Amino acid sequence: MVDKIVILTGAGLSAESGLGTFRDKDGLWTRHPLEDVATPEGFARNPALVHDFYNARRTQAAGAEPNAAHRALARLQQGWPGAVVIVTQNVDGLHEKAGSTVIHMHGELARALCHACGHRWTAPQTMAPHDPCPACTAKATRPDVVWFGEMPYFMDEIAQHLEDCALFAAIGTSGQVWPAAAFVQEARLAGAQTVELNLEPSEVSRAFHERRIGPATTIVPAWVDALLKEWAG
Ligand code: APR
Repeated sequence: MVDKIVILTGAGLSAESGLGTFRDKDGLWTRHPLEDVATPEGFARNPALVHDFYNARRTQAAGAEPNAAHRALARLQQGWPGAVVIVTQNVDGLHEKAGSTVIHMHGELARALCHACGHRWTAPQTMAPHDPCPACTAKATRPDVVWFGEMPYFMDEIAQHLEDCALFAAIGTSGQVWPAAAFVQEARLAGAQTVELNLEPSEVSRAFHERRIGPATTIVPAWVDALLKEWAG
C-alpha cells in the first residue's frame, strides 16, 4: 500500500502548453489589473470587461493541449488509484484532458455560476452580463472562478488530505497566493515530506524539504518516473 500524496499545481504547469502565468514577466496580472478582472468589486463595476477577460481565457484554454507534465501526473494517479490527490489552482481543464481527476480549488473556466441562486452549469464559450441563469432566470451569471477576496473551494476536504498525506508536492506555483501557499506548512505539521518543483525557487521555497528546479515538462516526468520506480520496488 502506497501512502497518500497531495500534489498542488499552479499556472507554471500549463506554461509549456502555451497558457500564460500570472506573475511572471508578461504574466496576465502585468497586462490586466487584477482588481478590475478578478475581484467581486471589479465585476460589479464592469461585468462586460470581466466576461471579455474570461471569454478570451476560456477560448485559449479550450484550444490548448496538456503537456508532458500533466500527462506524467495522470500516469502517477492512474498507476496508484486512490493514493494521489491533485489539487489545482488552475482553471484551464488541462489536468482532465490528460486523464486526471482533480480538486479545483479556484473553480473552472468551463463552468458558470449564478450568484443569485448558486446554480452551476457548463459555461458556453462566450458569456455575457445579461445571460439568464438556467435554473432561476436571474441575470446574475458569472464565471465559476474564485476571485481575490473570495474563499477557495473544497478547503475542508483539502485540509483533511493534507493531514493524511505522507508526501506533499507543489508544482509551478509562485507561493504568493493564500491559502495554497500555506499548504506546505500544513503538510509538514502533519509529518509529510515536501518537495517543490518549479522553474525557480518560489516565495515559500525554504519551507520545503527538497527543491527541484527546471521546466515542468522536464522535471515532473523525471520525478514521477522516480516515484513509480520506488513504489514498484
Ligand atoms: N515550469 C515550471 N514552473 C514554471 C514554468 C514552467 N515552464 N513557467 C513558470 N513557472 C513558475 C514561475 O516561476 C512561478 O513561480 O510558475 C509559477 C507561476 O506563478 P503565478 O503566475 O503566480 O501562478 P500561480 O502560483 O498559479 O498563481 C496562483 O493566483 O491570481 C491567482 O487565481 C490565480 O490560481 C492563480 C493564483
